[in-house]
Amino acid sequence: MFANGNRLSLRLLARFAVLTMGASLIAVTPVGTPSALAAAGCTSAADCLSKLTLSEKAGQMTQVANSYIRNKNDITTYGLGSVLSGGGGGPNGAGGTASQWADMVDDFQSYALSSRLGIPLIYGVDAVHGHNNVQAATLFPHHIGMGATRNATLVQQTEDVTRQEVLGTGIHWTFGPCVCVPRDDRWGRTYEGYGEDPSIVSPLGQAAVRGFQGPSLGTDSVLATAKHYIGDGGTRFGTGGSGYLIDQGDAQLTETELRAVHLQPYQSAISAGVGSVMVSYSSWNGTKLHGDSYLINTVLKGELAFSGFVVSDWGGIRQLPDATYADQVAHAVNAGIDMIMVPDDYVGTINAIVNGVNTGKIPQARVDDAVTRILTAKFALDLFNHPFTDRTYTAQVGSAAHRAVARQAVRESLVLLKNNGVLPLTRIGTYHIVVGGKSADNLGYQLGGWSISWQGGGGATTTGTTFWQALQQATAGTNITVQNVGTKTKSRYSGDIGIWVGGETPYAEGRGDSSTLAFGNDNSTQLSDICARVTTCIAILYSGRPVIITDQLPKANAFVAAWLPGTEGAGITDVLFGGGFAGKLPVSWPTAVTNEPINSGDGKTALFPLGYGLTPY
Ligand code: GLC
Repeated sequence: MFANGNRLSLRLLARFAVLTMGASLIAVTPVGTPSALAAAGCTSAADCLSKLTLSEKAGQMTQVANSYIRNKNDITTYGLGSVLSGGGGGPNGAGGTASQWADMVDDFQSYALSSRLGIPLIYGVDAVHGHNNVQAATLFPHHIGMGATRNATLVQQTEDVTRQEVLGTGIHWTFGPCVCVPRDDRWGRTYEGYGEDPSIVSPLGQAAVRGFQGPSLGTDSVLATAKHYIGDGGTRFGTGGSGYLIDQGDAQLTETELRAVHLQPYQSAISAGVGSVMVSYSSWNGTKLHGDSYLINTVLKGELAFSGFVVSDWGGIRQLPDATYADQVAHAVNAGIDMIMVPDDYVGTINAIVNGVNTGKIPQARVDDAVTRILTAKFALDLFNHPFTDRTYTAQVGSAAHRAVARQAVRESLVLLKNNGVLPLTRIGTYHIVVGGKSADNLGYQLGGWSISWQGGGGATTTGTTFWQALQQATAGTNITVQNVGTKTKSRYSGDIGIWVGGETPYAEGRGDSSTLAFGNDNSTQLSDICARVTTCIAILYSGRPVIITDQLPKANAFVAAWLPGTEGAGITDVLFGGGFAGKLPVSWPTAVTNEPINSGDGKTALFPLGYGLTPY
């Protein structure tokens, strides 16, 4: 281990020897600061481009998932430009501590620095509500909850915390913010959006970019990704791709409609300097976005003057209609995609790009433009001088200060839909609270999808505070007694106040597509049981979107939409005990699933309209 905590392999030291022998003696930097090694190969995007072979250029355009790297020497051999972790893509599968992630990323990086020109990797990850793949990281409310805050300053603050925790694992690129505009709540990715209205999404997406990147790109930035371009949230139910109901479907919209609802968030992100854009799996009027040159080249890169780089989605180019993979690659690259998230067959992808240029299918200039965009980002992030983890960030992952920010975000995300004089609760006096419901003491349900694993899961999946734990903390030292009956709600108990906590179980992407938006029989039974045995009753709903609560509302005296709050459940009890509700619905709440799609201004009557939220105290 060297002074700065980075482990240098013999490979890297060997490279140092080669460089000093082969080239004119470079400014010798003390061993242990490998950054100078990487810069020895080339010193600017233009300089690197002039020295790269066609195959190496193709390597820079190729992004591989960590789980698909057959031999780490391939990173060196092929000069791979990027490695990613997909959902749950930790050092040893799902999870892993920040230190273990940093060791993994630095190890991959050392192989890149050993390539002929020593161009550093840019490592990418989905930090979509905190650094959500990493054990004990701070997890924030998913975007739909942040949309309910309408607080751009808070969004920027949460992503600045996420930036620090991502840097603590040696990673300099996140596939976020999703600036999708979900228009049909049956979509499994509704919770990844800030809301149904671009006037909500645009300022919050812009703030997220600023939180990740800072005022300009530098060593302490995490490159942000505006995704998924474009119209991912506007697809028609029943047109879903990959066997889904709506996800990856077809946005059947006029260009005027597409621009009016789905383009503004990208304009805002670009004005904040977003460094990358990820293309959507979905289609626009039957044309796959991954092959849509008009929307990528002409609109995004031309009209909007986006100067960063465009990355495909996971295996997205394989959904293009072309006959062969080589043709799909050529189609996507010519449409304006600069980096291909393969994520597996990296050799085949490199060969397809090289053959595409050699056969004239892909103009050399297109490849040079793509590589220039990618290298420009790497230099802007100062990766050549700081390719390894700054371990001072690692120690801050999941810190009390970070969790305090997340707790504030939870407070502001809560939307009070109903309150018949129950809230706020008082800490004064003697009374009994009975808690029940499947989510009351289930951290995994509180987090939702994209949490430790891709789809998320139930139970104590990471470090955090469940609602039940928060309630115990909030009532400690008072004359309030509390009990949690969990899902055994038919057991014998009675109390002054009942609190039911339930809702959706975790899902991600198309697996969350729903044709019913059902509240769930288990939730309905447990809510009825809790509320039947107490004097007054409060319902707290964990969900990634509106679900049908029309018949549930009468059961409770108060009803709270808590979305997917993340690790800091105490933000909920803060508000129940007088902290004050601030949240406003970021989406229209349907009376029945047959209302969908339902959005403000469409003439339909919602159970609760966009912007609704009681603020009784
Ligand atoms: C997924 C998602 C995308 C994510 C990527 C990498 O399929 O569509 O949002 O960034 O793959 O995990």
